[in-house]
Amino acid sequence: MEKVHIAVSQAYDVLIDRDLLAQAKQLLTPHVQNKKVLVVSDRNVEAAGYVSKLVEELTSVAEQVTVEVLPTGEAQKSMANVTRLLSRLAELNFSRTDCLVALGGGVIGDLVGFVAGIYLRGVDFIQIPTTLLSAIDSSVGGKTAVDLPEGKNLAGVFHQPRLVLCDVSLFESLPSAVFEDGCSELIKYGMIMNPILLKGLLERPAALKASDADLVEIVKICVELKASVVLEDEFDQGLRQLLNYGHTLGHALEQVSGYQISHGRGVATGMLVFLKIAVRQGRLAPEAVEKFARLLHTYHLLPERYNYSTELLQAAMLKDKKRRSQTITIVLPSEFGRCELKELPIEIFMNVFEEEWLAYGQATS
Ligand SMILES: NC(=O)c1ccc[n+]([C@@H]2O[C@H](COP(=O)([O-])OP(=O)(O)OC[C@H]3O[C@@H](n4cnc5c(N)ncnc54)[C@H](O)[C@@H]3O)[C@@H](O)[C@H]2O)c1
Ligand SMILES: [Zn+2]
Repeated sequence: MEKVHIAVSQAYDVLIDRDLLAQAKQLLTPHVQNKKVLVVSDRNVEAAGYVSKLVEELTSVAEQVTVEVLPTGEAQKSMANVTRLLSRLAELNFSRTDCLVALGGGVIGDLVGFVAGIYLRGVDFIQIPTTLLSAIDSSVGGKTAVDLPEGKNLAGVFHQPRLVLCDVSLFESLPSAVFEDGCSELIKYGMIMNPILLKGLLERPAALKASDADLVEIVKICVELKASVVLEDEFDQGLRQLLNYGHTLGHALEQVSGYQISHGRGVATGMLVFLKIAVRQGRLAPEAVEKFARLLHTYHLLPERYNYSTELLQAAMLKDKKRRSQTITIVLPSEFGRCELKELPIEIFMNVFEEEWLAYGQATS
């Protein structure tokens, strides 16, 4: 079993291996013994059999185990569910020493983390990520949030889990498109700060699968990378922006498509277009583009073509940015496997983006 210690103000461990759910009783005992536990999950995760497995593990050690299974999808990250779960905790007489467990992807993790962060000004919670994305991204870093009708992730708090139990065998039941979306973030880690990881992904004889033996090691590398960024920037003052590589355009694509374009696929196009901007600025050699596009294609992350106009995307990108001035901070590769933050006047950025977006449209049509 791999263990990554996350030494933030309230430190915790991320345990990573195969078949950890079957050892949940032993691994979770210090956090749930003689406590009330509320397990929150979604219907797909329940259908895969993981909820009943976890309950079976916890029943003999916890004082009481209650389960709440929600429908699936981003719409569940709502204030309505926050109110519902808070009331549930109050009905159950949950005290500050009791514990929530998020068993699911990023949607369940973000929702449960938020509820745990505000109930009685903060109670313990444990993350058991069931998607690759939640394992390598959302379950590390302590950011929690729900969506408002006005936009995504607008209400949230920083609240660290007590433990993250990352059983990579759980990813074997993921639909391939969901697994591939997680791979987009994996490729992102390689491109922003780990040339060796990136090279390893490029040189694999076949695309990474949930059953591959080296998945534990790969997840561990990503958790360590995210942790290293989070440790230097626990409250999101700057360095964390590197993790947004490809996301300015990615979010814009998600939004203008009415969320028909998935997060991982939006980010993939975003990463490729921003790599092209970096090449155009002479930051790295043009061969990088073909190599990177080949990798993204391996995971079916690039479309045949996107028909969105430059103006529409520019407007969405500006709305997405929390702007402090007339400049925009973008994440640009400086080499194949390293990125830097670059601040540009908005007008200059929009001009280069337009040129690249038009060229991208032609190249993919
Ligand atoms: N807090 C953060 O730092 C952070 C970082 C990145 C993303 N996020 C958030 O994460 C969310 C996306 O997370 P996600 O991609 O995990 O989405 P998700 O939780 O919606 O899961 C994707 C789909 O897979 C299904 N699923 C989950 N585990 C499964 C399994 N093992 N077998 C079969 N089906 C399974 C879910 O029911 C859902 O349909 C977004 O809301 C995003 O804002 C948060
Ligand atoms: Zn992302």
